[in-house]
Amino acid sequence: MLTTRLATLADYADCARLFPELGVPDPVFTAEQFATRLLPRVVVAEADGRTVGYASWRLYGLTAHVVHVVADPAARRRGVGRALVGAVREHVADAGCSRWYLNVKRNNAVAIRLYQRAGMTVELESTSVQLPWAKVEELPRPAGPIGAFAPSPADDAAIAARFAIPVERVTAQRTRPGYVAAGVREGGVVAAFATFDPDYPGAYPFCATRPDLARPLLEALQPHALPDRGETLFVSVEGNAPLAGVLVDAGARVLFELYRMSAPL
Ligand SMILES: CC(C)(COP(=O)(O)OP(=O)(O)OC[C@H]1O[C@@H](n2cnc3c(N)ncnc32)[C@H](O)[C@@H]1OP(=O)(O)O)[C@@H](O)C(=O)NCCC(=O)NCCS
Repeated sequence: MLTTRLATLADYADCARLFPELGVPDPVFTAEQFATRLLPRVVVAEADGRTVGYASWRLYGLTAHVVHVVADPAARRRGVGRALVGAVREHVADAGCSRWYLNVKRNNAVAIRLYQRAGMTVELESTSVQLPWAKVEELPRPAGPIGAFAPSPADDAAIAARFAIPVERVTAQRTRPGYVAAGVREGGVVAAFATFDPDYPGAYPFCATRPDLARPLLEALQPHALPDRGETLFVSVEGNAPLAGVLVDAGARVLFELYRMSAPL
């Protein structure tokens, strides 16, 4: 029989074993990261006493972001994915969320079908790229005067409104331990914003009202890059093909093309 339940620390090994099935370049989470970053928002699916899948999510105010959904390859097409998605839906609806969303590779037809059956539709397209830091200087310079700034709590609402991001997500990203936030103002108005995880190293969200603002935004992040984390960074651009395009033109490699799918709850 297939059942789902909230995960505990004892499920770390099974979740870590299944994580590579997502096919993303992120290193598998450590037990400590599982405990502090994923739990308690993880469900596992069990069949005949075996763990056959897990799913995890994050909450940004009343918006839920489904982060991982994985079924064991040996147990696919038996309803594990559907059960996990259903369990996540129940938990986030119980938490009072009004919307849920996730990112899925545009060529992952199986997962897209699963999420469509759960009521989700495509909201926007996004692109993840890997950019050598050395290519930043090949990006176009902004035409007019701009000012880089370190966003503070007082900036969260303006950033959220400018880039249509839930304000809770801006706050959550800006305050994540170890993360660096950077912004660019033009005429006193926020025109670009990103948060950067030097440990990964990756920038997400990465938002700008014009492609030529990518350069000052990256220049604001670059001093925070860690020398032992390599010569490149990952950048995820949502719903902004010209911004992704300017990075690719400068020499970034496209890693994934994604859909963000979402639905009201
Ligand atoms: C996506 C994934 C979780 C689906 O898990 P699963 O347990 O095999 O899926 P289920 O058996 O619950 O099927 C649920 C629905 O998914 C779709 N689906 C699943 N496998 C499919 C396949 N091979 N072809 C087409 N649709 C498929 C169907 O719509 C299915 O519902 P239906 O049978 O009523 O039509 C699983 O394939 C997986 O772990 N993939 C690797 C990790 C991944 O890509 N995760 C998603 C990241 S966004």
